[in-house]
Amino acid sequence: MPTNDEVVRLVHVSKRYYLSRDVYVDALIDINLTIRAGEIVTVMGPSGSGKTTLMNIIGTLDRPTSGRVFIDGIDVTDADEKYLSRFRLERLGFVFQQYNLLPQLTALENVMLPMLLTGRYTKEEAMEKARLLLDLVGVPHVVNKRPSQISGGEQQRVAIARALANEPSLVIMDEPTGSIDLASSYLILDLVRLLNRYMGVTFVIATHNMEVASIGDRIIYLRGGRIIEESDLGRIREEFGKLRIDPITVARSYLRILDLEERRLRRLGLDTTNLEKRRDLISEFLKQRGDR
Ligand SMILES: Nc1ncnc2c1ncn2[C@@H]1O[C@H](COP(=O)(O)OP(=O)(O)OP(=O)(O)O)[C@@H](O)[C@H]1O
Ligand SMILES: [Mg+2]
Repeated sequence: MPTNDEVVRLVHVSKRYYLSRDVYVDALIDINLTIRAGEIVTVMGPSGSGKTTLMNIIGTLDRPTSGRVFIDGIDVTDADEKYLSRFRLERLGFVFQQYNLLPQLTALENVMLPMLLTGRYTKEEAMEKARLLLDLVGVPHVVNKRPSQISGGEQQRVAIARALANEPSLVIMDEPTGSIDLASSYLILDLVRLLNRYMGVTFVIATHNMEVASIGDRIIYLRGGRIIEESDLGRIREEFGKLRIDPITVARSYLRILDLEERRLRRLGLDTTNLEKRRDLISEFLKQRGDR
């Protein structure tokens, strides 16, 4: 049985795509995988090895042909689409290579949307939090612009802000730096690292890029739909340990978001224990940095 801190548990998961009645592709073969809260797990492997299929199954966007899928301790293998769309909205954040922002909405509105769809944020709360999230990811200047008016790197940061909107248990990224320049990629990597280290966000990231992969705790290599290797990354990670954006600024933005969350949870009469834990984590980090 999955335990509480297991955000992902795949048990003997296989996926077969039928191209015709008797022609098929085995995109995933007998995958067993656990991802715990607070981890960054990266998935590498050649084109066609099953990375996107794996991301889609973890993200409940696709179903396995056999095996079971537990996300956040819940068996979602046979859940219906109505349940799953709510599940995704509330518990998962997605970042794709092509950003997938809604073109007719501004950056601010794109980030507000998932919050408004839950019905658990007032319009004012959603707007304030969306602004704070855009601050957090370093693009406060794009709030009122539409996706077509901003760069790829900026769009991807808006997409990350959107992925974080509902405090997801897991953020799923499929080639997050696949369409952007190197400098923007570094910014994205710094952000992922900061969000993970100081805010406890859990990530699974499919990538071809070794530098992206090395920010994780583990790399999983896929080939022909099978996991062929898992590596411990302690050593590689040290080499990329230098932060290029100011963690204090990010931490302060995050504290402001937590204040807003606390007001909202109190308004709804909901439990704030988890939030207090996160605030302690971030306050501890600021204290270590000799701030506040
Ligand atoms: N909807 C689908 N219908 C049929 N075959 C599919 C479908 N999606 C994926 N496949 C096949 O499954 C295999 C795995 O594809 P997948 O997209 O998961 O690979 P990938 O590792 O993400 O590749 P890339 O690095 O190019 O993104 C491939 O052989 C692909 O052709
Ligand atoms: Mg892919």
